[in-house]
Amino acid sequence: MTATVIDGKAFAAKVRAQVATHVERLRHDHGVTPGLAVVLVGEDPASQVYVRSKGKMTVEVGMTSFEHKLAAHVTEAELLALIAQLNNDPAVHGILVQLPLPGHLDSDLVINAIDPAKDVDGFHISNVGLLATGQKAMVPCTPLGCLMMLRDHHGSLSGMEAVIIGRSNIVGKPMAQLLLGDSCTVTIAHSRTRNLAEVVRRADIVVAAVGRAQMVPGGWIKPGATVIDVGINRVDAPQGGTRLVGDVDYDSCAQVAGAITPVPGGVGPMTIACLLANTITACCRAHGLPEPEALTA
Ligand code: GUN
Repeated sequence: MTATVIDGKAFAAKVRAQVATHVERLRHDHGVTPGLAVVLVGEDPASQVYVRSKGKMTVEVGMTSFEHKLAAHVTEAELLALIAQLNNDPAVHGILVQLPLPGHLDSDLVINAIDPAKDVDGFHISNVGLLATGQKAMVPCTPLGCLMMLRDHHGSLSGMEAVIIGRSNIVGKPMAQLLLGDSCTVTIAHSRTRNLAEVVRRADIVVAAVGRAQMVPGGWIKPGATVIDVGINRVDAPQGGTRLVGDVDYDSCAQVAGAITPVPGGVGPMTIACLLANTITACCRAHGLPEPEALTA
């Protein structure tokens, strides 16, 4: 079997087009322009690339982008004052503080200072609790993107066996909550899981989110399973230089799986598309307007 390739780049473009349609509708019918504020502390090169790309796509869908760049030595009080200002600004519907923060800043404290209604990352403890209890939450972008691709490919996920490899707060745990919400039987595997190969072989859906290059071989995959690869790892390329690979060994997994997301071009582009979708959701909720169902969990 050769797997169907799930084209995250094309899917993300479709989501962004839907977002742009909603932005225009909000502007035309309600005089509201959704606004997304991104806060970057310090000069981490990877974070700078992400933030630039987020700002560009925010403007492309017609939203207002607010960028706040703070020096690496900013104090916690200064950062909290900026967050308070953004919480109180009616033009700002979504707030994202780029992680990781420099070591002298308490990430949990900073994230939990964001108004949960504007927490488009879905990292605030209120949103974590709302998601876990099946209430209306802001949902973390990467797992939301994975869920959208899985629903698009399968229709209903009800009754499917899902194995998530990785237990992070950003991907593994919220992914488990979302798949439970869609009535999957969910297992979270991690670095201490015994017989990982056997556990993964049960899965109709495998979500790999561990941050270890190509650690899942095709031999672990049940024939016909859907493989969602969240990993983005830079490795040396055989012909010199470097290249990006996922957490699964793509070539061997694609021989066995029914469907698979590539790296790059799979989950990655969906994350920013879902950030924009979450900003629409936050904006609609702030104004008491119906939220677009296709863009939410
Ligand atoms: N750093 C890397 N990915 C993310 C993300 O999704 N959100 C935030 N806030 N920081 C990140």
